[in-house]
Amino acid sequence: MTVFTTKSEIQKFVSTLNGKTLGFVPTMGALHEGHLSLVEKAIQDNDVAIVSVFVNPTQFDNEKDLEKYPRTLDRDVSLLKTLSPDIIVYAPSVDDIYEGQTEAQEFSFDGLEFEMEGKFRDGHFDGVGTIVKRLFEIVTPNSAYFGEKDFQQLQIIRKLVDKYHIPVKVKGCKIHRAASGLAMSSRNERLKREYKKAAPFIYKTLKTAKEKFGTKSATKVIEWVKSQFDKHELLKLEYFSIADIETLKPVKRKSNKKNYRAFIAVYADDIRLIDNIALN
Ligand code: PAF
Repeated sequence: MTVFTTKSEIQKFVSTLNGKTLGFVPTMGALHEGHLSLVEKAIQDNDVAIVSVFVNPTQFDNEKDLEKYPRTLDRDVSLLKTLSPDIIVYAPSVDDIYEGQTEAQEFSFDGLEFEMEGKFRDGHFDGVGTIVKRLFEIVTPNSAYFGEKDFQQLQIIRKLVDKYHIPVKVKGCKIHRAASGLAMSSRNERLKREYKKAAPFIYKTLKTAKEKFGTKSATKVIEWVKSQFDKHELLKLEYFSIADIETLKPVKRKSNKKNYRAFIAVYADDIRLIDNIALN
């Protein structure tokens, strides 16, 4: 298992690939089964797979969150080894990536950045755009794999690649769920027992919302979801939105020609959980 920590090392490695296809999975570490399913896909589809492990400071709007973010490189490397010893890990330092200027570039993602997560996490998508663009330039993969749990991020990365003509195929991968239905996330580890027990309610509610959307208006479905969380003793709803998957804008009137998803953010104690479901 090779772990590179500098861009010059990884670039040197990539320059020896001679036309072999390269699949890339950018992560912030604290790997779980959701990440591993992306890496498996990258291995299946390509000759070589690179996984980056980098806790990106510019996408955090809160110092405490950044400090508390788990850094578990040894464990991450051991987990990746169970998939294949040939995976290449790129685990750079902040300096290697930002060269003394730890700042996000400002982007326009044609409004995608102002919806949902954008309303609650100031500057987050500028930080994500900055790091993903930089990593793509360093690693130069053929394809890159992202989970649909962060569907807004996935659409923003598609927009980034499009706008900057970056020659990377962006592949969205299905949400990996625990048997309880809870979407896999590094944050789940931090849930206290009672909240872990309560959290599958999020996906259960999304599934029922999907059923209801078949026959009812978006407004009615939204009201119903809000009422479910108003009654819930442990989980607090931050937002629930039914949105067009292309613009991420809330649906006003349903159209057969459009595809919709329901998006949700919920607080379980001080842990923020997000999830979403395709509606058609
Ligand atoms: O989804 C994540 O883990 C991060 O936002 C990403 C894409 C690795 C960028 O830091």
